[in-house]
Amino acid sequence: MDYKKQFAENLEKALNGALDAKKIESMIEKPKHADHGDLAFPCFELAKIQRKAPNQIAKETAEAIESNLFEKVEPVAAYVNVFLNKQMVSSEVIKTVMESGQDYGNLNVGKGGAVTIDMSSPNIAKPFSMGHLRSTVIGNALALILEKTGYRPVRINHLGDWGTQFGKLIVAYKKWGDEAAVRENTIKELLSLYIKFHEEAEKDPALEEEGRLWFKRLEDGNAEAVTLWEWFREESLQEFNRIYELLGITFDSDHGEAFYNDKMDRVIDLLNEKSLLTESEGAQVVELEDETLPPCLIRKSDGATLYATRDLAAALYRQDTYEFVKALYVVGNEQSLHFKQIFEVLKKMGYDWADEMHHIPFGMMLKDGKKMSTRKGKVVLLEEVLNEAIELAERNIEEKNPLLENKEHIAKEVGVGAVIFHDLKNDRKNDIEFSLEDMLRVEGETGPYVQYTNARACSLLRKGNYEPADASVEIVDEEAWPVVTELMEFPDAVRRALLNYDPSQVAKYIVDLAQAFNKYYGAVRILENEEQKYARLSLVQSVSVVLTEGLRLLGIDAPKEM
Ligand code: ARG
Repeated sequence: MDYKKQFAENLEKALNGALDAKKIESMIEKPKHADHGDLAFPCFELAKIQRKAPNQIAKETAEAIESNLFEKVEPVAAYVNVFLNKQMVSSEVIKTVMESGQDYGNLNVGKGGAVTIDMSSPNIAKPFSMGHLRSTVIGNALALILEKTGYRPVRINHLGDWGTQFGKLIVAYKKWGDEAAVRENTIKELLSLYIKFHEEAEKDPALEEEGRLWFKRLEDGNAEAVTLWEWFREESLQEFNRIYELLGITFDSDHGEAFYNDKMDRVIDLLNEKSLLTESEGAQVVELEDETLPPCLIRKSDGATLYATRDLAAALYRQDTYEFVKALYVVGNEQSLHFKQIFEVLKKMGYDWADEMHHIPFGMMLKDGKKMSTRKGKVVLLEEVLNEAIELAERNIEEKNPLLENKEHIAKEVGVGAVIFHDLKNDRKNDIEFSLEDMLRVEGETGPYVQYTNARACSLLRKGNYEPADASVEIVDEEAWPVVTELMEFPDAVRRALLNYDPSQVAKYIVDLAQAFNKYYGAVRILENEEQKYARLSLVQSVSVVLTEGLRLLGIDAPKEM
């Protein structure tokens, strides 16, 4: 079903082998306007080789092409434009989609290689931020896209569960904490204890010292410190898990920063062995001057290791454990330097696999053009956002389809889907404006729009009592062609999403497919003609298969009714 390839083979023949098919294929373009055909071959390069006018070559080549795959072959200026045989291609595309089902668009480029995806990774005892939401949602979509393209994704939640702040938190809890309140509302309570600690420490600097002392105790395994830390971690994780549950996302590992405590010596030893460590103001660093980066801080003068040291230990551990062929880090733009440093240090250590480590940055979530902050007054609690989206979806259903069964469940699929889609529809590097109303609109480029289109397709299939049987059908409607060409595009959209590590390629694609289908739906009375009905419904079924699969790749459900 690779028409580009078939066109290239035809061209190779027509050109008497002046260029080989592979080369030709890479030159073939897709005309911007449908009235210029479905595929086009530019003759400029050939004109240079053959020292002939490109228009002349286009003309001669067009005349030499013979194939029933094309309805029309037309030289236009320096291009050979071809129009695919709509009937033939439509039949073939529908057949392929029907036969492959949700496997349509699968690629086996990954060959089963493991890809670790460092994603979500919130900090214990602090609110789950919009940045963490973005990381979770983008990371999960990338995992699904990697899986579809033959890789084995490993979702890792690298929890921020270590650092001097836990010493402070222990002090604050021992002084002012209330066990029941922490149990009841962990993040909120711990956050206010942390804020109180800083306020009090301004008046009484001795508190800072006490905090350091308790962190030291924690590092040394003091039972009281460890018990409190474990408890904070456990309670925080439970709170985060409510969000993951709403999103329908699970992890293969939640080894956070603390997991690497006993794996730091190895990093330091290896760095020493390779003579990469240098002293700088009492601290130990890896110089990255040749890479034009600031030095990577490995160990502070008091012996404490750092965020970077933990990431080095984590990289070694992950390579040992999973033998990853790629390691992705879905973390905001602001940590770019950190990851550049980590990757360079690993390369200096001589690890070839470091070439396959990639920081996957993303932009900020804005509210009224400003960064959304979880600090102090402006806490936007994510769980509230998700629940509000679900409620709004529920109200919509109540209004438009009050008899719908399973309302609550579907409202959850729609509300959560809206939030996820809103995040994934833009190139991930862009900042995005947060707006619940926009997300939930049923018109425009939204999750609910795509879901609604699919539900409409499903309802047609029900009304038409469609039972998929013979996959060979003949579509005669002219209006079906834009839908068929979109269906044909899906494997390419998946491939682009993989190449750019960008789920928005899939999100944009399913919006285009939904729009094409809605146009068709508006133009053709699908159920009216008995003779045509089966073929048309097969097209509808194909659309539903691809919309459902596209949504799935983004981590979004596709209700059959809504
Ligand atoms: N916990 C960090 C933060 O919230 C993100 C961790 C990202 N992953 C990593 N391996 N460094 O900023």
